[in-house]
Amino acid sequence: MPYYRVVGEVPRKRHTQFRRPDGGLYAEELMGEEGFSSDSSLLYHRYLPTAIVKAEAVTPATGTRLEPNLPLSPRHFRTQDLSSAGDLVSGRILLAGNGDVRLSYATSDRPSELYRNSMGDECVYVQRGRVRFESTYGVIEAGEGDYVVIPTGTIHRWVPQGTANVLAIEASGHIRPPKRYLSQYGQFLEHAPYCERDLRAPSEPLVVEGEEVPVLVRTRGGLTRLVYRNHPFDVVGWDGYLYPFAFNIEDFEPIVKKTHAPPPVHQTFEGPGFVVCSFCPRPLDYHPEAVPIPYNHHNVDSDEFMFYVGGDYSARAGSGIDVGSISLHPAGFTHGPQPGAVEAVIDAVSRGVTTTSEVAVMVDTFRPLDLGQGALSCEDPGYAWTWAR
Ligand SMILES: [Fe+2]
Repeated sequence: MPYYRVVGEVPRKRHTQFRRPDGGLYAEELMGEEGFSSDSSLLYHRYLPTAIVKAEAVTPATGTRLEPNLPLSPRHFRTQDLSSAGDLVSGRILLAGNGDVRLSYATSDRPSELYRNSMGDECVYVQRGRVRFESTYGVIEAGEGDYVVIPTGTIHRWVPQGTANVLAIEASGHIRPPKRYLSQYGQFLEHAPYCERDLRAPSEPLVVEGEEVPVLVRTRGGLTRLVYRNHPFDVVGWDGYLYPFAFNIEDFEPIVKKTHAPPPVHQTFEGPGFVVCSFCPRPLDYHPEAVPIPYNHHNVDSDEFMFYVGGDYSARAGSGIDVGSISLHPAGFTHGPQPGAVEAVIDAVSRGVTTTSEVAVMVDTFRPLDLGQGALSCEDPGYAWTWAR
């Protein structure tokens, strides 16, 4: 996170005695990135955050296998056709991934168990529904269009209020706003498409009493269930630069050019080996002879994974892509508007259309994405040939 925040009670000086009402000491914990050399927070626990009473290996759910995108093809996956079991963690259906990032889809109406991903940050995009994110840092009430960014190692759980659908982006490192949006010391610059006021974070501590509380921990070695002597939600205060936050896609301020602008203007976050972009409703490119949809392009270093979440995406007209669809346009394949889409949008502009209503979340990876069984189970096999009709 780019700025300092304090929630609940903390002592005036760090690393000094901080006492509970009964005279005992609160237990101080540093959560820090990059070996004490980057952002961190100090959390004050009622109980020792180190007290575990049991550890058991957990067999991963089936469906975690990935296979290469061969024969190389553009793909169309229909999340509308997926039915998931489990919660918003255990019920994740792996769609695509590589050594840098895993992309999964989940639908659930039931709370997850406590979960800690110690492999990297997660960015969970809420496609539909309302979901309460509970963590050692406190609560974030999330809803449709929210990205919830969760730092590595944060113990948390998801509590849907009804049914929620999410796209989970699991990184192998840290997910941050693009460096070019920030000043030398981390303030969002005026040209950035969002700023500090658009970010929501926990505002008060969340304290839950409980004993022998299991936490599912994900590491590179696999899954473990650690049982904590006391409930990990026992933090009375914390401060620092490291904490979960939410950002709603409607708060993204699109940047529009006279002629068509490429996806970097839509960039929202960056992680190791990938970027996340938000395509939002905006005025169309305004040169009198503009072609206001993408040109054919060969993004030679990237695979483009695009999740269509709302509105009407003109460039894909006639391809079968609909709200809930995901397209994957891999390196090695030139993609562009579907046949007739350019003519159709020029015609629409001539009839007075000046805006686009599209809403999409794109993850561009810098290494090829392999495909999960979940994606292959909801694939539209005819998509690759739609440009040749
Ligand atoms: Fe593209």
